[in-house]
Amino acid sequence: MHRSNIAKRVSFDDIQLLKADANALHKFIHNNSDGGTIIYLLEKLGRLKNGESKNPLLSLLSKPNEKIRLLTIKNLSKLSDISLLPTFVKYASNDSSTEVRREAVSALGRLNNRKTIPYLIKLSRDADPKVVMQAMRGLLPFNSTKKVSEVLISLKDHPNEMIREIIISKYSKSSKLDTKTSKTHVVKVDHGFLRNKVVLGDAEKVLKHIPNESIALTFTSPPYYNARDYSIYQSYEEYLSCLNRIFKGIYKATKEGRFFILNTSPIIVPRISRSHSSKRYPIPYDLHPLLIKMGWEFIDDIVWVKPEVCVKNRNAGFLQHRKPLGYKPNAITEMLMVYRKKTDKLIDWNMKQYDSATVKKSKISGKYETSNVWKISPKFNKTHSAVFPAELCDRVISFYSYVGDLVFDPFGGSGTLGKAASALDRNFFLTEKEPNYFEYMKSVWNKEGELFNKSSNVEFMDINEFKLLIKKKNNGAG
Ligand SMILES: C[S@@+](CC[C@H](N)C(=O)[O-])C[C@H]1O[C@@H](n2cnc3c(N)ncnc32)[C@H](O)[C@@H]1O
Repeated sequence: MHRSNIAKRVSFDDIQLLKADANALHKFIHNNSDGGTIIYLLEKLGRLKNGESKNPLLSLLSKPNEKIRLLTIKNLSKLSDISLLPTFVKYASNDSSTEVRREAVSALGRLNNRKTIPYLIKLSRDADPKVVMQAMRGLLPFNSTKKVSEVLISLKDHPNEMIREIIISKYSKSSKLDTKTSKTHVVKVDHGFLRNKVVLGDAEKVLKHIPNESIALTFTSPPYYNARDYSIYQSYEEYLSCLNRIFKGIYKATKEGRFFILNTSPIIVPRISRSHSSKRYPIPYDLHPLLIKMGWEFIDDIVWVKPEVCVKNRNAGFLQHRKPLGYKPNAITEMLMVYRKKTDKLIDWNMKQYDSATVKKSKISGKYETSNVWKISPKFNKTHSAVFPAELCDRVISFYSYVGDLVFDPFGGSGTLGKAASALDRNFFLTEKEPNYFEYMKSVWNKEGELFNKSSNVEFMDINEFKLLIKKKNNGAG
């Protein structure tokens, strides 16, 4: 039966009645063989106060429909009834559905009773990592028991990475505090001297002088391997290893738990003649493993979609011949890969580092993009051939930083990120190695400086001047 029809037949008041009266619940289950109705009931039952509900619910565990069994276990676990221990053990160990097994292990954990310990220890050796994780969750409250802590510690060598991480973070020194929400160890270091600086120089070299943990957000678009004249590399390998070194520098310079958002897309290097083929380089896919290896944690992939009229048309041939294998889709997307600097702290920990006034000023008001598909037209600039659209920077800065934060673009180009940052009351730090783009940024700021409150005190310097600034800072001056 369709859900909306079930909802018409089984009202909120009916469900309250069934919760209060075990006989009525029993009759309802007996008289409704339709799986949809039973699932609807089980989803709507909510908090169960009446222990008498147990028997009618138990009868549902023999149903062949696994969703019914799963929801039944979920509801039974709300009763916190230790007499259900053998039932939960039975379904945790033997159910044919792994989802039902996981729910039953979770139910054992929710009993929060020492009697569950031997069963949870056994389940912590299960072949399904999610069953193991549920068993670990159930065992953690009894961590002070020698046997339990031995079992948990032994899981640090488990083949599953999430299990290993949970155990390592649980038993690492720092987690003696409740690091999940604690803000006690946040050290306030003033990196104010980096604010609103544009440095002419190679990002790799500049990054060597940037203090560790000074940057709150990096959003950047690196050169697209030999696709434009400003980026010439001997080989793809050299290109990747150059970016690898720069991204390692960004990792060091980024504050714990903060974000790095990388905009790239596969690029095509055209064929040298009609008798050769062009070559496509899957840049985001090749950079991803390098980033993971250096410690960035993958968080999200956002797809930037451009109108098809704005991209190079690759369809002319196929449009004519229509022969399979010759299909060439127009590339209207770029990736925004979202990474977070590794930490065992939840994102709440980062959010709690801001005072309430800053939080209030930084909140995103009104409508915002709820999906990971961002439709934004590209921007064209006479001086620079690959600039960010301001809207792209606005979204990234608003979603991934707070007012007053320092945001960084190592491949500054025409300075779009800096302008957007200052308009959104953030500070920025940019590097750019090409003098003509550096001069362009300077001229734009000189022209438009007054438009941006913060940017009126932007400082432009070359790498030597920057090094001097750092030296002065290290010697304790200004
Ligand atoms: C894709 S563009 C970035 C454009 C920028 N997002 C904007 O909105 O104008 C890449 C820029 O990185 C610069 N670049 C390339 N290698 C660099 C390096 N090693 N250090 C600093 N800048 C570099 C290039 O000169 C180019 O301006």
